[in-house]
This record gives sequence, structure tokens and C-alpha cells, in this order.
Amino acid sequence: MKIFVSRKLPGGVLSVLDSSGHEVVCSEFDRPLTQEEFLQMAKGADGVISLLTDKINGEVVDAIGPQLRIVSNYAVGFDNINVPELTERGIVVANTPSDQVNEAVAELSWAMVLALSRRIVEADESVKRGAYSGWEPSIFLGHNISGKVLGVVGMGRIGSMVARMARGFNVRVLYFKRTRDLEAEKETGAEYADMDRLLGESDFISLHVPLTDETRHMMNKEAFNKMKKGALLVNTARGPVVDEHDLVDALRSGQLGGAALDVFDNEPNVNPELINMENVILTPHIASATWEARIEMGRLAVDAILLTLRGEKPSNLVNPEVWDHRRQ
Ligand code: GLV
Ligand code: GLV
Repeated sequence: MKIFVSRKLPGGVLSVLDSSGHEVVCSEFDRPLTQEEFLQMAKGADGVISLLTDKINGEVVDAIGPQLRIVSNYAVGFDNINVPELTERGIVVANTPSDQVNEAVAELSWAMVLALSRRIVEADESVKRGAYSGWEPSIFLGHNISGKVLGVVGMGRIGSMVARMARGFNVRVLYFKRTRDLEAEKETGAEYADMDRLLGESDFISLHVPLTDETRHMMNKEAFNKMKKGALLVNTARGPVVDEHDLVDALRSGQLGGAALDVFDNEPNVNPELINMENVILTPHIASATWEARIEMGRLAVDAILLTLRGEKPSNLVNPEVWDHRRQ
């Protein structure tokens, strides 16, 4: 059978595919494919490993052909895939959640909280530009994080990991989730709060919701105005959860003290107003970019395809309900 991989992956994770006996076609280009290139290379595939930069919907899978059985997304998020349209066609969709990815994203979220609180990026930049002229009582004053309140928006696997790590920093956690999660509370010590209370009481807020119609631009002017003056915002989830235009206004007015963004509304484009702000940290969607996480993501993505093609159900399906009437 034919397996198509839309980009080379780090860590040698594709070697398992090579010895699987399947025909493996991997993109030669180390860049996202245009839709035309993607379709040309994927045509006739039984399984596809896609990236979050590939937009996959009913039309795309129809063009790949009626033999396509699984799309295995090399990511935790799957907002690049129209899951209902694939489910309707009996195509299995998998993603790559794992402890290693949850840890990597949670650790970057904490790195952002620390970097914003202690102005690490600004301070680094000043030393490198030759501006350091000796110790001073009042350069780059920030804030302790110990004793402060972190608001975790979205208490899934990643949000829970962020909450768990708060204990080591002596940070109290408020969390919001659509339905209260007693198990997560027991496990992490976090306290449930509705969105208004979370916004009003948190010194820093970290976003861990998937991108859906409900979460798109949920962090907007109205939300920023409810936040504590000078609070910090961290987004390692999906860019469109934050209204970047309203964010710029909130930062400019001082309503927000700073923001750290790993994801953007219209990737890879970055709002130029954010680029010029000193209290903003911008990273290129690297939250899961650790060897540990990426190797595990590759392993999960490959396993989901190999298992599905030999009729065994993988545990990491996004649409497990399709299994009993999947394409054979
Ligand atoms: C990365 O953003 C992912 O969803 O894995
Ligand atoms: C993250 O938001 C998750 O639920 O894994």
C-alpha cells in the first residue's frame, strides 16, 4: 500500500515505515507543499502523514482517491483537518498526544511566564547590543512569580500539565473548562473559576484550548478589559484564539503588561505592530519542538497508519466512532 508523508520529519522516525513493506513517498521539499503539489504526491495513497500546515477537507481526500483509509496528523491540534467531512467518508483521523508533547508545551508555557516576568528577552537584547554598563538598582525590574495566580484556560492534557508544574513555583492556579473537572482538580490542586473570575484574579493567563468556533477570538477586547491591569498573557495553543488587533490595543494602553505568543492569527504572518513592542515575546510555533516530543509524535503518527492498514485500532484516533464503518 502507499503511504504519503508531506514533509521530512526529525529523529529518524520514518525508518520504521521504510521497513514496513509499504511504498513510502515522502516530500522532497523541506517546506510546506502547495495544495497542488500535495495532491500530486498524495494521489493514490492509502495512508497520509499530514502536518498542521496542510489543509485537509473532503475535497482533498476525494482527490487523493477512494482507497485512502487514514490521515495521521503529526500534531496534537487538528484544526487543519475537517474531521466531520473525513468521518462522513469513513476515513480514520489520528493525532499525536503524548506525555512528551504535553510536557514540551507546558514547559514552553512556563518559560514564557518566566521570560515575561523577568524581562529576559529585553535584557538579553540590551547586553548583546552593548548597552550594559554595570549593575544598577533599577534596570529591568520585573516581578516575582512566587505567590501569584496563574489562570489556565482549557484544562485538557496540556493545561493540566501546566497546572501541575505550578506547585514547584508556588503559584496558585485557577482554571476554566467548559465542564468542571474534579479529577484534574485532585491531580493538580487547581481551583475551578468561571471565565470572568479567572480573568479578574489572574496575574498571568495561559491558553490551552483547541481552536473551535467557540474559542476563536475568545481573548478579545472584552476579555482583556476584565483582566487585572498589567497581567501577562501566554499563548502556546492556536493563534486565532486571541484577537491580535485587540491585543495590540490592550498592550499599548497598559491594560496588559506583556504577552508571549508562540502562535499567530494568520501564520506564518506576524502582526508588525507586535514585532515592535518590547513587552512582547514572539516564537515561531516551537512549543512541541523538543527531540523527546517530536520523536514521540513521529512514532505515534507512523504507528497509527501501520496499525490501521493492518486492521488494528490505534488508541490515538480523533474520530474513533468511524472505526466500525471505516473504509476497508
Ligand atoms: C502543534 O501545534 C500541535 O498541535 O502539535
Ligand atoms: C490541550 O489543550 C489538550 O487538551 O491536550
